[in-house]
Amino acid sequence: MARRKKIYEGKAKILYEGPEPGTLVQYFKDDATAFNAVKKDVIEGKGVLNNRLSEHFMVGLATLGVPTHFIKRLNMREQLVHQVEIIPLEVIVRNVAAGSLSKMLGIEEGTQLPRPIVEFCYKDDALGDPLVAEEHILAFNWASQQDLDDMVALALRVNDYLSGLMYGVGIKLVDFKIEIGRQFDGDFQRLIIADEISPDSCRLWDIKTGEKLDKDVFRRDLGSLSDAYTEVANRLGLMPQNKPTTGPKLVN
Ligand code: TMP
Ligand code: ASP
Repeated sequence: MARRKKIYEGKAKILYEGPEPGTLVQYFKDDATAFNAVKKDVIEGKGVLNNRLSEHFMVGLATLGVPTHFIKRLNMREQLVHQVEIIPLEVIVRNVAAGSLSKMLGIEEGTQLPRPIVEFCYKDDALGDPLVAEEHILAFNWASQQDLDDMVALALRVNDYLSGLMYGVGIKLVDFKIEIGRQFDGDFQRLIIADEISPDSCRLWDIKTGEKLDKDVFRRDLGSLSDAYTEVANRLGLMPQNKPTTGPKLVN
């Protein structure tokens, strides 16, 4: 079999040419990085968990009519996705102050925000993905005003969906990051959710205990990252359950 063509390798995923034009295979690695890859490790099983979790979130979004790049999961580590032109912006939505917002504005982590805040960071590792204003985005033509309006609307829909889903399993969605891409159909373009949605790109806190169930466990050395992600997958009913194979069965 011919070796497939690698299109792009990032810190946590690899993109390969897909079986049909306009498709890609997205492979989830076990690599974990933080602080722009200053901190690195390999967390066994992380790629498998993120592949399954991202599938779950993307399928749920599509069911609600939010367009995503996800087509289908191919195996434990790979999914088939639509090829898009990634807009070079990380779109962050925050419900509770944490991370860089807390640091930048001196707001205590855990402070509920009066409304969801949408931020944009310019995707450039060499610059450390700096926070940018809409003015920069428009002036440097990274996206149009229409794109920006669509991106904010998409991000807020993802926020509503993910917040509700997580609340249902006792988890607070503190913040998250998504990436958005352009899908072309002749002259027409539409914006769709791309990349991944997983505990690598969200902050998830247990509602009762405040325990962190996201990549901050790795960033801040708080314990086992794979245990944290397994807990999220378990609560969402995504882990195979060890059901007893023998014993009495309830019948009507
Ligand atoms: P921040 O508070 O560090 O700016 O992070 C905000 C959210 O974005 C948080 O859920 C983690 C996520 N994130 C990424 O997915 N990739 C990144 O490179 C960074 C810095 C944050
Ligand atoms: N994704 C970034 C990195 O790999 C930063 C982070 O998630 O904290 O370094």
